Amino acid sequence: MEMEAILAEVAAAVEPHRGAGKVASYIPALAEVDPRKFGIAIVDGQGRYHCAGDCDESFSIQSISKVFTFALALERVGPVLWKRVGREPSGSPFNSIVQLERENGIPRNPLINPGAMVVTDQLIGDRGADAFVEELLALLREEAEDDSVFIDDRVAQSESETGARNRSLAWFMKAFGRLDNDVETVLSAYFRHCALAMSCRQLARAALFLAFDGRDPVTGRRVVASRRCRRVNAMMMLCGHYDNSGEFAFRIGLPGKSGVGGGILAIAPGKGSIAVWSPGLNAAGTSQVGAMALEKLVERTGWSAF
Ligand code: DON
Repeated sequence: MEMEAILAEVAAAVEPHRGAGKVASYIPALAEVDPRKFGIAIVDGQGRYHCAGDCDESFSIQSISKVFTFALALERVGPVLWKRVGREPSGSPFNSIVQLERENGIPRNPLINPGAMVVTDQLIGDRGADAFVEELLALLREEAEDDSVFIDDRVAQSESETGARNRSLAWFMKAFGRLDNDVETVLSAYFRHCALAMSCRQLARAALFLAFDGRDPVTGRRVVASRRCRRVNAMMMLCGHYDNSGEFAFRIGLPGKSGVGGGILAIAPGKGSIAVWSPGLNAAGTSQVGAMALEKLVERTGWSAF
């Protein structure tokens, strides 16, 4: 069946549910988004786009950015990264602090908030937050083949102003000696990478290398080594949705990563990369209608890993 017809089916299946779920409000700037938005984009190995709905509208990718920072850190920092962060599912919410005390300030994995802060700290190194943020933005623009990818400073500012919880996590790790940089330096970079604004089309394109062993199949550019790409996908499968990761694997069966902006990135190895967006979230911060759309998509394409 043609992908366009499958996408039409997916869009029809979610239509009665548009607006379901709860738009994130703990970052005030995110609460302003229209809950009925829905977009989906798929990019395949030939660089062909299959899109529907609000696929060209920018949204805040939030925690989906952790996939890119993690991939970059594995490549740059190498295996010593695993001295600072684990690789087990947390079974806890993205901003939970309880395991940090029991586990000596070492976050369970790179995709929960404290894990992503450790990754960001390592990527900043001694060059400052701005240089790291610029490098990440340049990488995403290049991989998305679109210079209009941007950081929404209003969202970053809004998150910083209400960031007591993330500050607590960072200070807690600092107390254990797990962050090299100042807490505010790490957070300034963290809030900005979470505030990256991309459309489904740009996001699916930028992550295409993850579906093809770390190499962009269109440009031939190697973004990460193939063995590291496997690890990024493994972490997404096990930890990409926090305490909802089992449910996502059960229903969809693809490496995925959610963001509280309502986006979900899913990787179908050897097939393509998929981005969906719908702002209403379930209790774990995964887009409710986005997950529904992915479930329908894998049912029709057979792309589940299982
Ligand atoms: O740190 C935060 O709370 C947000 N910048 C990101 C959280 C997030 O996207 C969780 N994902 N579902």
